[in-house]
Amino acid sequence: MSESHQDALQQDVDLSAYNSFGVPATAAWFMAVETQADVSAGLEFASKQRLPILILGQGSNVLLLNDFPGLVLHVASRGIAISSDRVTVAAGENWHGFVEHCMDAGLHGLENLALIPGTVGAAPVQNIGAYGVELAEFFIELQAVNLRTGEIEVLDKQDCDFEYRDSIFKREPENPRLILSVTLELSHDWRPNLSYRGIKEALPSAEPTPQELFDTVCAIRRSKLPDPAQLGNAGSFFKNPVISAGKYQRLQASFPELPGYPDEEGLIKLPAAWLLEQAGWKGKQRGAAGVHADHALVLVNNGGATGEDIFLLAQEMSASVLEKYGIALQPEVRFI
Ligand code: FAD
Ligand code: EPU
Repeated sequence: MSESHQDALQQDVDLSAYNSFGVPATAAWFMAVETQADVSAGLEFASKQRLPILILGQGSNVLLLNDFPGLVLHVASRGIAISSDRVTVAAGENWHGFVEHCMDAGLHGLENLALIPGTVGAAPVQNIGAYGVELAEFFIELQAVNLRTGEIEVLDKQDCDFEYRDSIFKREPENPRLILSVTLELSHDWRPNLSYRGIKEALPSAEPTPQELFDTVCAIRRSKLPDPAQLGNAGSFFKNPVISAGKYQRLQASFPELPGYPDEEGLIKLPAAWLLEQAGWKGKQRGAAGVHADHALVLVNNGGATGEDIFLLAQEMSASVLEKYGIALQPEVRFI
């Protein structure tokens, strides 16, 4: 390993600032990686020392349950290259900054995804989505290092097999990959997606500019979701459950108010926040861990909570939803 890579390796690093819940945990080893050579050096070190690897962007979708005994690779690469309507962006770029950059460059489509925390490299992992739009709609390909083989791979949309908050990167733990860059296809034409309920009403006009849609999405998000810099959280803790139309009808017989939104396949997506609020969870506290007062799907660290505290609260919440509605909530947050 080169001297500069040796210098980049840090030992016993506090990860509180690297997870948006702000829970305490230590990484035995930690390295910020900006280039492919950095990743190779990290891989070589981990393999020699027989250390497990954890990839971290900005830690806004993870719950750290313990100290991590291996090497954290913190993705910190930068760079955005636009060629006509295609844009290739380094994995370490901040997602929101990237959305703004594209909009300012006259490339459209991502405005609905403004203000989602985290890095570009993590975006394909759970196929980030908000306000009627998902990453998959714009995705062309990505470049990744396969951490098992050390090989560079290029994966297209079919390879990634995106679904709602899901992709191959979540489904193949035996084949871990570090995403280096992502290529998207955007549009010079402005065709706003105003399909999500509540968006049209919140806009200043029926024909919004890209900036107006971007600002409206940011304003809605700020009114609903706590800023992790003020109150530790990881956004929605659970996914919204998707059930058959038949099961939805049966549930509605007992819970006539139950909201449900049909998807393209005729299945019904239920708001987990509604199930949790009706089960009495909104604003509930368990020591330093709690449920946000304005959104029942957002677990928060009120200060001093551990990953375990938040995990136990989440377990209690999902058990109560299972008991009341017969629905098993799936976590969206990744447990480490
Ligand atoms: P991390 O939390 O660091 O990592 C998440 C997972 O991806 C981990 O498993 C990690 O190992 C893996 N990973 C990270 N980087 C890479 C890489 N380069 N290569 C391979 N694997 C990698 N999500 C939405 O979809 N929609 C929302 O509207 C939304 N709103 C949110 C609001 C708030 C307030 C918060 C705190 C979170 C929200 N999220 C939302 C979740 C989060 O923003 C996304 O999941 C985001 O993509 C995480 O980025 P990150 O860099 O913080 O990833
Ligand atoms: N609701 C309640 N109680 C609450 C909050 C909401 O009953 O405390 C009900 C309302 O009926 C509301 C419905 O839940 O209409 C949906 O709420 P919201 O619009 O806030 O969206 P969500 O389903 O909770 C999802 C995503 C968010 C994304 C928004 C906007 C998931 C798991 N979450 O939230 O993504 O920003 O839609 O598209 O799909 C994330 O993934 O971390 C995230 C924040």
